[in-house]
Parts: sequence; C-alpha cells; structure tokens
Amino acid sequence: MSFKEQLDLINLPQHVAIIMDGNGRWAKERGYDRIYGHQHGVTSVRECTEAAAEIGLKYLTLYAFSTENWNRDQKEVEALMELLIDTIERETPTLDKNNIRLKAIGDLSRLPQGAYEKLKRCIEHTKTNTGLCLVLALSYSSRWEICNALRHIAQEVKDGKLSTDEITDEIISNHLTTNEIPDPDLMIRTSGEIRISNFLLWQLAYTELYFTSTHWPDFRKENFFEAIVEFQKRERRFGK
Ligand code: FPP
Repeated sequence: MSFKEQLDLINLPQHVAIIMDGNGRWAKERGYDRIYGHQHGVTSVRECTEAAAEIGLKYLTLYAFSTENWNRDQKEVEALMELLIDTIERETPTLDKNNIRLKAIGDLSRLPQGAYEKLKRCIEHTKTNTGLCLVLALSYSSRWEICNALRHIAQEVKDGKLSTDEITDEIISNHLTTNEIPDPDLMIRTSGEIRISNFLLWQLAYTELYFTSTHWPDFRKENFFEAIVEFQKRERRFGK
C-alpha cells in the first residue's frame, strides 16, 4: 500500500514546514556544481506543493534561503536568488490556477530590488486564493525575527501603548512574521542533519520533528506522505 493510501485524511496536519537540505551534497555526489542540486531541488518543491494541495493542507512553509546563506560564495548566492525568483515567477500562473496563495517571511529588504519586486507581484497576484498557503522563508532566520519582534514590542512599551505585564505568548506570536499562520504541526528536514538551524524556533515549540536521510532533490510526493503517516502515529500531548 502506498503512503498516500495509508494517510488518515481526518487527522491531517494543518501546517507542514520543511528544511530543504542536501542540494549541494546531492550535486557533489554526481560530480556537479552545487547550483545543479538547487535546480533539481525545484522539482521537489513542485512535488511537495502539489502533494500538500492534493490532500488539502492549509499551510506549507519552505526554508528557501536563510540569513546565513548570504555568506555563501557570491556566485552561488546570485544563482540561487535568480533560480528562486525565476521559479516563483514562472510558477505563479500554476499556483493561481490551483487556488494557492503565496506568502513570504524573512528580511525581504535584503533581497535585490528586482527580485523583491517580482516576489511582491506574485504575492499580490495570488492573495485572494483560498486553498493552500505556500509560505517561503526567504532571507529568514528565527533569531532575526525574534530580535525584530522584541524591538517592536520595546518601542510599544516606550510609547506607552503596552505595559510589560501585557507581554504574553500571544503578544510575542503576534509580532512575528508568521503572525497570521498557525504553528507547524510537523517539521521535516531532509539530508540527515538532526538540527533546527535557526528555523521557526518559537513556532516549533510543540511541533513533531521528522528527519530523513533523503537529499532534497530526491524528495518526492511519497516521501512527503511518508512523513505525514509517521506524524499520524505520534501522540501529541502539548506538555500535558
Ligand atoms: C539547502 O541545500 C538548500 C537551499 C539553501 C536552497 C533551497 C532552494 C531550492 C530548492 C530552490 C528552489 C526553491 C523554491 C522555493 C522555488 P544545501 O545547499 O545547504 O545543501 P548541502 O547541505 O548539501 O550543502
């Protein structure tokens, strides 16, 4: 029986987040440049987006570019940025046709101007869609996001709009870039590393974590469904 057939469609996660790792290693194992791995990673992005939409998930968040990725070789950064933005632009009509809404989280002010404008256009184009919400974490890191939230909260306290006693979990969540998005139920990381790497640190507090040795460019719909089947075997207690 396929993993898709094993899914319990009543007990689906609402939000799945993915650290797409291993593009570089996948390419190296084949004797190619790292960017070749990123190019192949696009197929996996498409597969997972389709898979998520097929079973009616509400949110899929993909860690596409971290704050730390800006420190990579400039040639790789440029190629990756171009690939990301070109793919988003090219796929927007398909996203739209499938009622998928695109969203981006991260320090978008660091994106090259042209890339930023293209991204904004695609977001604008799909903003009224009501199906899957595809969230791209771009120039994102959790510590950047938390610092940013704290700066805003401190300013509100300084301006007398908020007292320190009023700072709660909810207030902090509301100041994060994910403020309109429920916390992930399941986080998948590919390629064998067992760590979170500055991704959604606050939001992953009660998330089920799933690690697989499969490199991202080899990750297909069945791998995605397998992770959800595993999620459905877990008992979530939320600390109770
Ligand atoms: C990690 O592999 C992957 C990335 C930093 C980028 C992911 C980007 C894509 C799959 C491109 C397309 C994405 C979208 C959303 C259109 P790595 O380079 O860290 O691999 P390594 O750990 O093996 O070096």
